[in-house]
This record gives sequence, C-alpha cells and structure tokens, in this order.
Amino acid sequence: MFAIEVINLRKTYGKVVAVDDVSFKVKKGEIFGFLGVNGAGKTTTINMITGLLQKDSGTIKILNHDPEEAWEYVKNRINVSTAYYPLSDALTIRQNLRIYAKIYGVKNVEQKIMSLMQQFELSHLADRKVADLSSGERTRTALCKGLINDPEVLFLDECTVGLDPDIAEKTRRIIKNYQQKSGCTILFTSHYMYEVEELCDRIAFMDKGKIIKIATADKLKKAIKKHTIEITVKSRAEELKNFLMLEQMNILLAEDNTIIFEVTCERDKIYKILNKIFTKGFLLSDLHIKKPTLDDIFIKIARGRK
Ligand SMILES: Nc1ncnc2c1ncn2[C@@H]1O[C@H](COP(=O)(O)OP(=O)(O)OP(=O)(O)O)[C@@H](O)[C@H]1O
Ligand SMILES: [Mg+2]
Repeated sequence: MFAIEVINLRKTYGKVVAVDDVSFKVKKGEIFGFLGVNGAGKTTTINMITGLLQKDSGTIKILNHDPEEAWEYVKNRINVSTAYYPLSDALTIRQNLRIYAKIYGVKNVEQKIMSLMQQFELSHLADRKVADLSSGERTRTALCKGLINDPEVLFLDECTVGLDPDIAEKTRRIIKNYQQKSGCTILFTSHYMYEVEELCDRIAFMDKGKIIKIATADKLKKAIKKHTIEITVKSRAEELKNFLMLEQMNILLAEDNTIIFEVTCERDKIYKILNKIFTKGFLLSDLHIKKPTLDDIFIKIARGRK
C-alpha cells in the first residue's frame, strides 16, 4: 500500500521546466528522502502534492485519494513543515499554533500545543511574538505546526535549517519517534546529508526537474568504488610515497608525514596494500580509512550533470 503516488507530474514556469514528468511511489510508513542541487525541483514537487501549487499535468494520490477530488478526506491527514514556513510574525507561538489547530480540526488543542512546545523546547517562549524569535526557534515552531494534527503523511522540506547541532539531533529523534509510534509516512528534504542518511529508508535524487535515481543510502554509496586512506608515518614519508606510487595508488595529498590516497574497494585491495605497508616496516602514528559518504555521491551526481 502506498501513501503517496505521483505519476508524470509536471510544472513549468514559462520556459523553465521546474518538474519534468516526475513519477515515484512512497510506501506507507516509509521515510522517503528527496535530494538534489538548489533548483532541482524538490519544493515545487512537494508544493504540488500538498495542494499549495497548481500542477500543469500528472496524477497525484495521497492515501489512495486524489487530493483534488477528495480534499476533505486528505487535508486533515497531511501536514507540511519547512524552516521557511510563513508564520504570523505579529502573533505568539501559542497563538500561531492555535490557528493551525483550528484549521486542522485538532481536539484537546491546549494540551496538544503544550506537549509539542515541550518536545521542541519552546514552552518558555510560548507567549513571545514570532517576530522576536531566533531563526532556530522559528524553525522549531514550524515543526510544531507540522505535527499539530498527528499527520498520517508529513512533508518536511528543509525543516531543520538553522538548528544548532544539539536541537537538530533532538529534532531528528522526535521525527523518528513520531514516525515509529504513528506509522506516519514522511517525505523529507534536506541539504544535510548525514540527516538524510540517518532518517531515510530510500532516497530519490532529483536533477533538473527529473528523478534520476531512487535507492537506499547503502546502494547509492556502492556506486563509488573508492575508499580514501590517510596515513601518518613517524618517518620515511618520502619512501612511503614512492612505494605507493610504484603500487599505482592514486595519491591525493602528500604533506609532512601524512599521505592521503585512494584505493578501489574491490577484492581485498585495502587489506593488501595496508599489509604491504606494515610488512615493509613503516611505523604509523595515525590511520584513517574513509568510506564513501552520501556527500560524495551528491557531489559526484551534481558535478557529473553538466
Ligand atoms: N514561482 C516561480 N517562478 C519561476 N520559476 C520558479 C518559481 N518557483 C520555482 N521556480 C524555478 O523552478 C525550479 C525548481 O525550484 P524548486 O524551488 O522546486 O527547487 P528545489 O529543488 O526545492 O531547490 P532548493 O534546494 O534550492 O530548495 C528552479 O529553477 C526555480 O528557479
Ligand atoms: Mg526547495
């Protein structure tokens, strides 16, 4: 059963094709990541799915319903949050959340608002105007808005921008806990790769309005076949460099006593080269093996696209 189904979704602005026949399906209970460079079409896609933007063409289904035909069914079961969400500056956090609670037909409003503010550590700011909040506090208010109606499908478009590392980690935990407790489906975008990797079951890469790949983070990372090894030796650095060159390693940096080089990860190559280094009697004072990260994948796709 799918929570979100999108077929041949399209949006143009004059000559700009912002979303170009995009199709994908998100399973119920899945956290589905959307990655792509600035302007790839992620927000436009989300805005069309959530009814904030008129599509040119294509089919959208949320919880098996076409939102255009069954908006009454869909509207209270979904929610959207983004750090750029336009909250009312003149109202306090509590007043803003009361309005959204009313829009979404929430019961036990005060209790719900208090519990969300507590989770996002905003209780002490409840009666402060949004205009007077820091950017991270606004972002957290927008997250409270996103969860106000216990949505079955939640759209989080850059919902963690501007959060300090402590609250960002707590926010990821709240999102994950909420998802596990409620079975909610989440469409998640972020430019912070580690959080996409930590949260998302599958990731779609968007580029120039198209989805070019959908896979798990692990599968995506397997596309990069090289690991980076950083070695610092106590002495004989020049000798080690010459040895690595003889072994046809791709040296990225050799400075002072540190050498960084690439090794393809197939057929025990890392183990073999390290074994040779030890056998030759080089004394290491530091060793790091860096596997490909989602950042590397992102950069590879972004730079390979021109
Ligand atoms: N109202 C608009 N008028 C004209 N062009 C627009 C409009 N909104 C978006 N675009 C264009 O559509 C494309 C997709 O934009 P979109 O905001 O969906 O990208 P994004 O993937 O969310 O990027 P980001 O990572 O920067 O948030 C961009 O080229 C953008 O300039
Ligand atoms: Mg965007």
